[in-house]
Amino acid sequence: MRLDGKVTVITGAAQGIGLGCAEEFAAHGAKVVLSDVLAEKCDEEAARIAGEFGVEAISIPCDVSKEADVDGLFQKTVDHFGTLDIAVANAGVIKAGSILDLSPEDFDQVLGVNLRGVFLTGQTAAKIMVDKGVKGAIVNMASTNAVVAIPNQLAYVTSKGGVVQLTKAMALALAEHGIRVNGIGPGSIMTDVLKSVMNDDAARKMILSRTPLRRIGDPREIGQVAVFLASEYASYLTGQTIYPDGGRLSLNYVVPVDD
Ligand SMILES: NC(=O)c1ccc[n+]([C@@H]2O[C@H](COP(=O)([O-])OP(=O)(O)OC[C@H]3O[C@@H](n4cnc5c(N)ncnc54)[C@H](O)[C@@H]3O)[C@@H](O)[C@H]2O)c1
Repeated sequence: MRLDGKVTVITGAAQGIGLGCAEEFAAHGAKVVLSDVLAEKCDEEAARIAGEFGVEAISIPCDVSKEADVDGLFQKTVDHFGTLDIAVANAGVIKAGSILDLSPEDFDQVLGVNLRGVFLTGQTAAKIMVDKGVKGAIVNMASTNAVVAIPNQLAYVTSKGGVVQLTKAMALALAEHGIRVNGIGPGSIMTDVLKSVMNDDAARKMILSRTPLRRIGDPREIGQVAVFLASEYASYLTGQTIYPDGGRLSLNYVVPVDD
């Protein structure tokens, strides 16, 4: 499965799952554009990836909730590489709050990044692909929380449910152009937020008890799914969301956890 020379934009790529995606695309030969609000971290990671994987990797800062930023990201990408083949709309944020206490401002902020940002990223990428006649691929980052909810993560679970439907509607509209759109719904993946949660024994047991594979996922394992979805190996797959979740969504009860 190779993506040699495929120009790939990844949002939220300074760390975590986005960075894991950037590494996997680079490992499969793609030219990668790492984008994030954390410009300096993105610069460093792009330079490291270029050296480590021997591919072209550049960094372009962008806040995905802002139209002008997203336009700039894709314009600069096309100016630099001449085309666009793949977009991974990964950037996401989380803000705690239930129906009784979540502020409208926090609701707007989460939806602005996680849903509006995925819409803007996909729309801008798709327009370029259609314009250039590229039969490209778009991958949207959802979550298992698109399917199962957490009461005090109202905005987050709502945004991720929206991403799954957005993915279907995008896929249907872009099918006639040969552009495929799919989603990924990760379970618990070892990024910075989860690392701190896993230091708490009760929280660790709670997470592992609903994870049949009995371990937390690695960001690169999500990158592998993204590479597959963007590759020719997924040539007849569009409108789907795949859940790399260690078996979580298939589990009715809980599994035993070692102390
Ligand atoms: N880690 C998990 O267990 C998990 C599970 C399911 C889904 N996800 C999803 O995966 C994606 C990545 O999450 P992560 O765990 O790597 O989180 P993370 O916080 O480690 O990384 C998110 C990245 O997005 C960037 N970002 C935030 N707001 C942005 C904006 N407005 N514009 C551009 N970049 C922005 C951050 O700077 C950061 O680099 C998110 O969409 C998240 O919802 C994560």
